[in-house]
Amino acid sequence: MLKIQENVALAPYTTFKIGSQAEFFAVVKSREEVLEAIAWSKLNKKPLVILGGGSNILITKKIRGLVLKNEIRGIEVIEKNEDYALIEAKSGENWSRFVNFTVERDLYGLENLFLIYGTVGAAPIQNIGAYGVELKDYFYHLRALDLKTGHEKIFAARDCEFGYRDSVFKHRLKNKYFIYAVTVKLKTTPDFKLDYGSIREKLLEQGIKEPYCRDVIRTIQEIRTSKLPNPALLPNAGSFFKNAEISRVKFKNLLKKYPQLPNFPATKNKVKIPAGWLIEQAGFKGKKIGPVSMYAKQALILVNHGAAEAKHVLALSRKVKAAVKRKFGIDLEEEVRII
Ligand code: EPU
Repeated sequence: MLKIQENVALAPYTTFKIGSQAEFFAVVKSREEVLEAIAWSKLNKKPLVILGGGSNILITKKIRGLVLKNEIRGIEVIEKNEDYALIEAKSGENWSRFVNFTVERDLYGLENLFLIYGTVGAAPIQNIGAYGVELKDYFYHLRALDLKTGHEKIFAARDCEFGYRDSVFKHRLKNKYFIYAVTVKLKTTPDFKLDYGSIREKLLEQGIKEPYCRDVIRTIQEIRTSKLPNPALLPNAGSFFKNAEISRVKFKNLLKKYPQLPNFPATKNKVKIPAGWLIEQAGFKGKKIGPVSMYAKQALILVNHGAAEAKHVLALSRKVKAAVKRKFGIDLEEEVRII
């Protein structure tokens, strides 16, 4: 039975520890409760807002309508043969617990995505990625409930229109579906991606040429903890901005002025520039403005030093964007969902 509360503070449900109130709030633990919420929202003419792990969101105002905290859990092996396995996780499952589940069963693919905060249901919305791997590389399909009718629809990878930190659920189908379960297709033999940054180098330092899964996981953990703040100690929402994608022409011009400009190929005509580098060059790395700063070890992450409100975050974000625009002529785009 769905239990709906009124005027609930949302800050504790976010890793930023910032948030106003929800007009109405309920925890959902099953498909039936989602269907109940859909019926309630229709009857009361109130929109539904879905909250997963709260790890990629900045809540700036009171949320009108019914906020659903997704706690639908469960992981299942759907199919397994010599070559691959299909594993389905319900959307309220913790992402890293899901990665652990696959690793423990010697299934390969998700190692580099270990320790990303948030839920399984949020993963396809922004096509989570780290260290050269994105969810889309191992995504099989997802099941979602239409927020108007409650009917289930299956989305294959091409229906999701995945891009860099992007999918159809951020655009045309924004707030139209409740993602209920996600299935990935994993390899039964090692399929490591070790070429990003210092992964291979760190393994070689330990004399490991042919790593086991546990070596890769441990290395990812070491790299992440050395650079990324633990939200339990220093509240944050991961990368605050996306890396910038600029045209080749603009890139060539910038390179004349900044020969050391780090860059990665993006698409045929575009080059990706790490936003962390741009922010650092603009003088904001570790710079504290009131209760917030861009993190001293990774300038892409905006951290809350305690008692910050959304207005402080937005003010720093505006300053950073203006400084990067002034220095490089590049517009940074928020990666965090701002509502
Ligand atoms: N850099 C700096 N200064 C900084 C930070 C970065 O100069 O303060 C430069 C360095 O040149 C470095 C490059 O940026 O080589 C890339 O940095 P890093 O490998 O730390 O990754 P990122 O591009 O800053 C992205 C993701 C992260 C993900 C890492 C690793 C985005 C928006 N962010 O960051 O994802 O963990 O790659 O794959 O694409 C997240 O989405 O919340 C997140 C943490």
